[in-house]
Amino acid sequence: MKLCMIGTGYVGLVSGTCFADIGHTVYCVDKDEAKIEKLNSSQSPIYEPGLDELIKENYKANRLFFTSNLSEAVNKSDIIFICVGTPNKRKSLSVDLKFVYQAVKDIKKVSKGKKIIVTKSTVPVGTGDQIEKILKNSKKFTVVSNPEFLREGEAIRDFKYPDRIVIGSNSSSIFKTMKNLYSPLINKGSKFFTTNRRGAELIKYAANAFLATKITYINEIANLCEKINVNVEDVSLGIGSDLRIGSRFLRAGPSYGGSCFPKDTKGLISIGEKEKVDLSIVKSVVKSNENRKKLILNKISKILKNKIKNKKVSILGVTFKPNTDDMRDSMSLKIIPYLIKKGAIVSYYDPTGEKKEFENLSNCNFYMNINDAVKKADLIILHTEWDEFKSLNFNSLIKKRKTSLYDLRNLLNTEDIKAKNLEYFSIGRPKIN
Ligand SMILES: NC(=O)c1ccc[n+]([C@@H]2O[C@H](COP(=O)([O-])OP(=O)(O)OC[C@H]3O[C@@H](n4cnc5c(N)ncnc54)[C@H](O)[C@@H]3O)[C@@H](O)[C@H]2O)c1
Repeated sequence: MKLCMIGTGYVGLVSGTCFADIGHTVYCVDKDEAKIEKLNSSQSPIYEPGLDELIKENYKANRLFFTSNLSEAVNKSDIIFICVGTPNKRKSLSVDLKFVYQAVKDIKKVSKGKKIIVTKSTVPVGTGDQIEKILKNSKKFTVVSNPEFLREGEAIRDFKYPDRIVIGSNSSSIFKTMKNLYSPLINKGSKFFTTNRRGAELIKYAANAFLATKITYINEIANLCEKINVNVEDVSLGIGSDLRIGSRFLRAGPSYGGSCFPKDTKGLISIGEKEKVDLSIVKSVVKSNENRKKLILNKISKILKNKIKNKKVSILGVTFKPNTDDMRDSMSLKIIPYLIKKGAIVSYYDPTGEKKEFENLSNCNFYMNINDAVKKADLIILHTEWDEFKSLNFNSLIKKRKTSLYDLRNLLNTEDIKAKNLEYFSIGRPKIN
């Protein structure tokens, strides 16, 4: 089939490339010309393991194209996927759909033949109806919802082996076409699930809010563990082994972040508000997550005995999770400015390089390697669970300096923390020294 992906970000680029890899011809469009230029010189604008190679292979095979020419891409395609961002509105819980609606208006302007328009972006319930209105209910267009569930860092695997493919449409004849599109994945065992369009739109928000609830729940249990000398990891294992609960998303850590959970929990609350339904559980999850940010900052201050001024603090990993360069709603965006404001001297290292988010902060420096970043640190904060942090030898890193380590991911095994001058703090585990 011939497909057009509008928006070549984390979702559009990964799904476009994977669609090409399973044999479709894909035209990826982005309004950001620098992105398209980069992609046409075979460089990925994002860091996602395995993506560079997959782009190169499919580009070479003439199945994957990158262009800013929307008209050409739309008119060469049967199905158009909208993969643009859907952030929250400023100072509001509700979802800003300006990029989605602009993309629809752009399609309407250039499109000549019959097209299927699919929202892959996460959009509030009823967005498909609004899109139909913009298209003046023209019979030329069929509007379908196909939410995306891939996780950054594992996006290719998630796209190619999804637990389920959700298709929402009010016209059941479209399901056959969508099933054909995904048949290489369905044939390998992925579940193909159909519902009406509003149902598919809601499934995405309900799924993300549920996962955020699990994380928030175990984070609160971790707070309790810290008070009563219990290891939260034992609790996670003890409850997660129950198949009704499941072990995933039960790892305590800092507040949840990233490009989806914070905005989608808020988005779901605003969908409820619009319908006058009080989604009190989701509201308390959002509140608990906000409190957690304050709690982590207070703990950092406490570790430094409330004397942050001139303290050297080193942050290992700043992205919201490993194997991605995505900084959206990362806890590091709270920690670093807080420390700088309080007069600390911050150094940081991340495998995906220096971040523009910290460029204008004085006393905040990026280092190309761990050794240089932690040199002279009074406190090291292990923020992101990159593999390369898992077997760090703190004896040789800190030498004879007295240093504290705050392991926000419980990445290190407490028995392995043998460095004499290191005071170790973690999340929800009994203190070891
Ligand atoms: N990032 C994830 O892990 C993830 C997972 C599942 C679902 N989603 C959802 O997918 C959607 C996209 O997320 P993302 O992280 O890929 O966003 P992103 O910000 O990485 O990418 C969006 C891209 O769309 C482009 N764009 C915006 N308007 C355009 C237009 N009119 N024409 C052409 N290009 C346009 C932007 O330039 C940008 O490159 C969101 O709704 C998000 O909630 C994201």
